[in-house]
Amino acid sequence: MLRKLLLFLMISLATSVPAQISKDGKMNVFITNLMSKMTLEEKIGQLNLPSVGFDVTGPILSRGVEDKIKRGFVGGVFNTYTPAAVRKLQEMAVNQTRLKIPLLFGYDVIHGHKTIFPIALGLASSWDMNAVERSARIAAREASADGLNWTFSPMVDIARDARWGRISEGAGEDPYLGSYVATAMVRGYQGNDLSKNDAIMACVKHFALYGAAEAGRDYNTVDMSPVKMYNEYLAPYKAAIDAGAATVMTSFNEINGVPATTNKWLLTDLLRKQWGFKGFVVTDYTAINETVAHGVGNLQEVSALSLKAGVDMDMVGEGFLNTVKRSLEEKKITQLDIDLACRRILEAKYKLGLFDDPYRGISEERAANEILSPANRQAAREISRSSMVLLKNNAQLLPLNKSVRIALIGPLANNQRDMIGSWSAAGDWKKAVSVMQGIKNVAPNASVRYAKGCNILDDSSLLKQLNAFGGGIIQDTRPAAQMINEAVEIARQSDVIVAVLGESSGMSGEAASRSELNLPGSQRQLLEALLQTGKPVVLVLMNGRPLALQWENDHVPAILESWFGGTEAGNAVADILFGDYNPSGKITNSFPRSVGQEPIYYNHKNTGRPYAGNVMDKYKSRYLDVENDPLYPFGYGLSYTRFSYSDINISSNTLQNNGSITATVTVSNVGNRDGEEVVQMYIRDMVGSITRPVKELKGFRKIFLKAGESQQLRFVITPNQLRFYNADLNFVAEPGDFRLYIGSNSRDVKEAGFTLLK
Ligand code: BGC
Repeated sequence: MLRKLLLFLMISLATSVPAQISKDGKMNVFITNLMSKMTLEEKIGQLNLPSVGFDVTGPILSRGVEDKIKRGFVGGVFNTYTPAAVRKLQEMAVNQTRLKIPLLFGYDVIHGHKTIFPIALGLASSWDMNAVERSARIAAREASADGLNWTFSPMVDIARDARWGRISEGAGEDPYLGSYVATAMVRGYQGNDLSKNDAIMACVKHFALYGAAEAGRDYNTVDMSPVKMYNEYLAPYKAAIDAGAATVMTSFNEINGVPATTNKWLLTDLLRKQWGFKGFVVTDYTAINETVAHGVGNLQEVSALSLKAGVDMDMVGEGFLNTVKRSLEEKKITQLDIDLACRRILEAKYKLGLFDDPYRGISEERAANEILSPANRQAAREISRSSMVLLKNNAQLLPLNKSVRIALIGPLANNQRDMIGSWSAAGDWKKAVSVMQGIKNVAPNASVRYAKGCNILDDSSLLKQLNAFGGGIIQDTRPAAQMINEAVEIARQSDVIVAVLGESSGMSGEAASRSELNLPGSQRQLLEALLQTGKPVVLVLMNGRPLALQWENDHVPAILESWFGGTEAGNAVADILFGDYNPSGKITNSFPRSVGQEPIYYNHKNTGRPYAGNVMDKYKSRYLDVENDPLYPFGYGLSYTRFSYSDINISSNTLQNNGSITATVTVSNVGNRDGEEVVQMYIRDMVGSITRPVKELKGFRKIFLKAGESQQLRFVITPNQLRFYNADLNFVAEPGDFRLYIGSNSRDVKEAGFTLLK
């Protein structure tokens, strides 16, 4: 038996290792050979990534780009898709250029390609890594069938300030959860072999710290201590790299006074030398050029700095294309700098199999079969409903009976356009299921009467801005009072009001920072009038960020956060409203009571004057006019059933520095419906050489329990999980006391303690 095992091991070693070496070796030989034929201009051309716009009527090919492609001055393009449009450009590259080097085709496939899934913040709220990976896998299959081989996703920027519109594009405030989401996304996009036709390259962005923009204003300055950076922000990028992300995108912000795009420490020392990243780095849109405005130098200087820092590909700005040759002549950069960048891009093309089949098997048939298939839509429905979060449900108002009389009210109730959210680039909102349609599908016997009730917003300046960028908001010109009266009238004749309110999709996402986090005034007025009817109100929210919902929480009996749920959002909402699905999502950003609390996050540090709830205790770290804690804490979300937690049973109160201990809890479904629960484990390091957060997520499990069922869960704790970056940026676990918390969210937990021994 042992001999057989040894023989097997020897054979597999003998076959697998050399096979790997020869695979890389073959690639190196191929690329070295190719590069030996390339002119300097052609090498620089590979570093150029222009955008070739596309709209519903077909590709808008700028003559300039076409010409550059033919001359070999383009390494890839983005914003072009469909088999026909991709084929046209790829043919140009492989038939009409001197060296026939195929192009990369990139695109912002962010939360689905054409079958749109919930926005990333929603996806993360499912806490279901299989669902997250599945959404990315389907996105990759659709995108690759549509000619793409590269997505600018995942965005893994930790964000703790809901004013920042791009909080919608990430996984929330926690680096531990964010790392799992990052890994799942990369796996989903890339599969296990990039050369397969249905795999696309992931691009982890925005490297780094983009989510910490001061005051939540997009593109704003970031300033952060190294320990904060290492302990609280970098982990998800690292996780994506470890999962094999093929590319990295730089961020717009500065880090330690140096813009990310010209930051050699970031792009070379950390990313390549410390983390071992082997792929290529692309800038964000014109990010090199923007460093001129940061005050770093003129375009030639910043282009040279970026190349030397470790940028390989220049998105749109053409700083590389137009200045790098001059910088070489002036000896500001070396031939090796250019060769390295060029080689990395060619390697990516090689790994994608583009030199074997530049079209990667695209065809109209494949696209038609793959895109928006019934199976993909079904997956979107399932994933969408698992992302939604029940924030409140007094007296079990939800779920509703399927033969109830519903007053369906609100500017988002019979709305398709906003369902797919921001960055749903190739998504077609006309394919989205509205809440109205979803209710009709799920409860055909319910009586549904609809009134818009109000406009999404009354602010004409904001409206103008949103509509200038595709908002498509159609303003009802009736006076507000008339619209409200109509809604109230319908409400009076119904058993329950379902009010669908929130943001239009353009109110969150890129360049969509807000200084207020309330529901817009017009919607609040409507809600007040609806509540005055005395009929029970279910508030279904659609929005891309945590909102400040104190008033709503105080007055509305049931609140469901549905995010922007994607193509199948309406069906998913209806599945929850009528109890065909028991909500299981948990928020991954704290929801504030008021915008003034932002940035607000659970894993904060303690102060020397912690507030203990006594308002007459003046000299404490607190506000005069609002509590410190959030309205809904990180990890919070209700279910139609109830879960109870036993006390924590810990296998030992002491943890050896090379050992492990086990924390066990029993979770029981004590309600009368089957349901899922996200069991969360947090740890606090009581004393450290640097101050430590009051709680950090260190484990979670999403489990399904039938009504009445219990499950024992074991969390293994090792010193590895207790490590953090100390003042010297060494990753250490320090002996001493720890608190351990397990529960249903970051606030409602059971507690135990243990000591890490020397
Ligand atoms: C965004 C990126 C995006 C890029 C390309 C930029 O403005 O910051 O996230 O990938 O545009 O569309």
